[in-house]
Amino acid sequence: MSTRTTSQWLTYWMGRAVDKLVLWTAAKLFGLMLAVFLCLPQRQRMSHNNGIAATGTLRIADDPDFPAHDFFAAGKEFPVRIRHASATFLDDAMNCIRSLSIKLSDHHLQSPFDIEMNTGERNLFWSALSFFQFAMMRRERHGVQYWEYDRKYPDGLAGAQGAGRRHVSSFQNLHYHCLTPFLFIGRDGIKRYAKYRAIPADGAPETGIDPNPSNWDQCNQRILPHETRGRNYLKYEYEDRVKREGACYRIQIQTHPATDNEDPEIFNNMVIWDETAFPWRDLGLMTIDRTLDWRESTLTTFSVNNMPKTLGVIPATSIYDYNSLNYLRTHSEIARRARLLSYKLFGMVPPIPDNDNRNESEWGQ
Ligand code: HEM
Repeated sequence: MSTRTTSQWLTYWMGRAVDKLVLWTAAKLFGLMLAVFLCLPQRQRMSHNNGIAATGTLRIADDPDFPAHDFFAAGKEFPVRIRHASATFLDDAMNCIRSLSIKLSDHHLQSPFDIEMNTGERNLFWSALSFFQFAMMRRERHGVQYWEYDRKYPDGLAGAQGAGRRHVSSFQNLHYHCLTPFLFIGRDGIKRYAKYRAIPADGAPETGIDPNPSNWDQCNQRILPHETRGRNYLKYEYEDRVKREGACYRIQIQTHPATDNEDPEIFNNMVIWDETAFPWRDLGLMTIDRTLDWRESTLTTFSVNNMPKTLGVIPATSIYDYNSLNYLRTHSEIARRARLLSYKLFGMVPPIPDNDNRNESEWGQ
């Protein structure tokens, strides 16, 4: 039985309300600032500007061994639109985080389910507060950026070391993780949490991993001296590959039962769930057969708001809560819309040129 007095309860609930208000205000302000200062005037995404979109299908496993869910019913087929990207420089030969984002529709915006995934099993930040620190400590100069953050936050540095990929031979052979967990309430009504990943269907080994990354020079993402790969080599490789043979991925899911007194660490995207207790199971096979042009790739956008309620974002209570990362993302819709509006007002951003302006993150340099 609770031993708290009424005034202790009042203080507790007021504290929670204030925490939630701070989170809500921070998320709204951040989304608005992105829209007003970056997406609208500069016609840019917050990150991952350099990418290529493609289309195909996802077929859910015929005999799934993850908990049954009507949305992911056995054998169901979805049209998909994906986008592979490099965060955040406009140069494929740099040391970048690479991504695979999937929407279960062939539309640039609308879909019943989107998922965004990056390379690396851990992230570079773990809560809204940590994400703001990461964003504020970016000091980008010609391809060198997070030296201050890396020195102050060794966990963030370790995340960057695990996620960066240089000299990747193809977007197709990387492993992509959604990192943050989402809700999963299936046919049995039991509350669970889920993470998603994509791996190459042919089992090809992952390329681009630095086996011995430097602690002090991780912030240096510049191309190596005497680099022969062009600024767009990875997107060209993907176009050729898809034309020649297509690209195929195993999409997998990991589910974790929810309990009443949850250990918050299971929501921490810096902590990998134990694969023995919570194995990766095949969600389905995704086959890509057509790449899209620059215009359509640039228009394509993904959102954590595009999810059925039973597979959506886990509620967050404060800027310290691990789930506040996804809370921020739910409130960044305005940034996406502002970017799409900017093309209507000022025209589409041009494709990345094959010139020797290397190590750049901005158009016009
Ligand atoms: C926590 C793990 C996160 C992952 C795995 C992730 C992943 C991604 C990926 C892969 C993209 C590129 C999608 C594309 O190709 O268009 C992206 C874009 C973006 N992300 Fe995140 N992200 C994360 C956290 C966040 C957070 C905390 C925010 C804060 C608001 C955020 C806001 C955005 C925005 C605004 C875009 C650009 C959207 C657009 O203009 O189309 N993301 N993210």
